[in-house]
Amino acid sequence: MQVFFFIWCGCWCHSLFIDPGSNMASATDPCSFSSFSKCVTKHLNLTFHVDFDSHVLKAKVALTVEVLEDRFTSLTLDTKDLKVSKVTANGQAAKFTLGLKHSFMGTPLEITLPFDLSRGQHVIVEVTYETAPSASALQWLTPEQTAGKKHPYLFSQCQANHCRSMVPCQDTPAMKHTYYAQVSVPKELVAVMSAVRDGQEPDPQDSSRIIYRFRQPVPMPSYLIAIVVGALESREIGPRSRVWSEKEFVDKAAFEFSETETMLKTAEDLAGPYVWGQYDILVLPPSFPYGGMENPCLTFATPTLLAGDRSLSNVIAHEISHSWTGNLVTNKTWEHFWLNEGHTVYLERMIGRSMESEQFRQFKAMGGWKDLQESVNTFGANNPLTNLVPNMSEVDPDDAFSSVPYEKGFALLYHLEELMGGPEVFMGFVKSYIQMFAYSSVTTEEWKNYLFTYFKDKVDVLNKVDWNAWMHTPGMPPVKPQYDTTLADACIALCKRWVKTKEGDLGNFSEVDVKTLSAHQLIEFLSLLLQEEPLPLSHVRQMQEVYQLNAFNNAEIRFRWLRLCVKSKWEDAVPMALKMATEQGRMKFTRPLFKEVYNFDKYREEAVRVFIAHRAAMHPVTSNLVAKDLKVDTGKST
Ligand code: BES
Ligand code: ZN
Repeated sequence: MQVFFFIWCGCWCHSLFIDPGSNMASATDPCSFSSFSKCVTKHLNLTFHVDFDSHVLKAKVALTVEVLEDRFTSLTLDTKDLKVSKVTANGQAAKFTLGLKHSFMGTPLEITLPFDLSRGQHVIVEVTYETAPSASALQWLTPEQTAGKKHPYLFSQCQANHCRSMVPCQDTPAMKHTYYAQVSVPKELVAVMSAVRDGQEPDPQDSSRIIYRFRQPVPMPSYLIAIVVGALESREIGPRSRVWSEKEFVDKAAFEFSETETMLKTAEDLAGPYVWGQYDILVLPPSFPYGGMENPCLTFATPTLLAGDRSLSNVIAHEISHSWTGNLVTNKTWEHFWLNEGHTVYLERMIGRSMESEQFRQFKAMGGWKDLQESVNTFGANNPLTNLVPNMSEVDPDDAFSSVPYEKGFALLYHLEELMGGPEVFMGFVKSYIQMFAYSSVTTEEWKNYLFTYFKDKVDVLNKVDWNAWMHTPGMPPVKPQYDTTLADACIALCKRWVKTKEGDLGNFSEVDVKTLSAHQLIEFLSLLLQEEPLPLSHVRQMQEVYQLNAFNNAEIRFRWLRLCVKSKWEDAVPMALKMATEQGRMKFTRPLFKEVYNFDKYREEAVRVFIAHRAAMHPVTSNLVAKDLKVDTGKST
């Protein structure tokens, strides 16, 4: 039996356990079965045969593992719903057993080596396996679910802990490794991955197939492994960038993302050189569950960014920023997720500051504070998941996902910026933090120690910060920053007018009210209204009459407008809300739209019925979360 001593390290943000038996620090991730103190993965060599008939990857992975202790004979990998048929170590057969399945952590794969290894030695562990058709990282689309309607499509989404359903590995962001991959696909399709393209050749085993090769020479965590297979085309949009999508979207995408190189250069000025070589963008089918995903060399983006006439998006600035905060400096476990997202939002808004103005950054920061308030309200102000650094043991990262790490994280960084001397001074710290921790994974404690080291002359000011309230207390932060309201004033004033106006005075509104608002301000106006008590039905009807909001295709506008209408119990909006919830699957839109209809008593059953009718065609993560939101049986234990 092992005894663990708890070492008080000056904070509650991470715990270090010392195993007195081996006298070694044993660091663990509550979301992974694989410990990262016994051995570390250095490289993955992947071979995928993509089978669209059975919806499985027939696969092999060779992990190059460095041993960190003497008398090393066994290791544990994370898996989820994988069929493992064979394991070898340096070419010799190795014994393996799959443990009990945990609802979201999956199944530990215990491998016993046929030999002993000592500290510093390497071993190549090769696992032959197949993924399940229900793999949570993968969505297999039928031709009918694509724009072209002719060919099937496959995409992955590994963050936070889904890589294990695609690759048996040490599935923790504490680990960083390079990878090489060879992917065999039907020859009319194209494969791309989160790596540099390394050529292609006919599949020697099957003349109807083609093998695409990829190499990722920069060490990165498993959650950034990504693959897409489909009828893809691409266009050049900059010296290091192409945009990829089905041919139906590729020109629109090239236009929408034409500012990519300017953003990359701005980010490099702020944060240092871009180390990933290429920066491509792939526009996915509508069921992609996120706005964007920072897969290295190949950002994934929702097609909802293309809809509408007025372009306005921070998603690409955000994903570009992750090339430094997240991909180069990575959160050690998902408890420190705010290090990824908070710094990325901070950088994203610094890009906005350079490309637009300081007022624009302040306006976006204010909007972020409101998003934080909404998350705190939905989770409840005492919910530990609203802590900046939550305890994640037995917590599914998908359930914990919210604006909190993004906006509480940003608010803390902005507060520190004000205390330490303004944006230029604080950006100096962020850049230095990136340099200091590049190619590694960090905890909140390490970040904080570095902050105190960097600002060693201002330690007295830093000591006045209520760190415990910011990091380990649920609810809104202890300090509310004062943001410049120049751009927000018009939105606030118009929102107040609608809230105060009596039914008889609705004739005072006209299209002129919104004529001078930017799309950003229109979004802000709608967000402000969503925070108020529901408007009377007469008001939203009049709003449609004068502003014609039903005609907007911009997803950010449409989603807020439809929520507002459903909140006011406007029955005509219900089918439009459910249509938007199902025609695209970005969870930021789909979940609140379903929830809003569900909360309209008369249409609760309709929301459930529409969900059940669509769930088989939905992304596995989205359908799991919407099922929980609508209290529909998930068929799972959590
Ligand atoms: N890395 C996230 C997406 C993510 C987080 C996927 C956690 C799975 C688990 C990505 O960078 C992100 O934050 N996307 C946002 C963009 C927005 C903040 C501009 C999104 O999808 O809305
Ligand atoms: Zn992000």
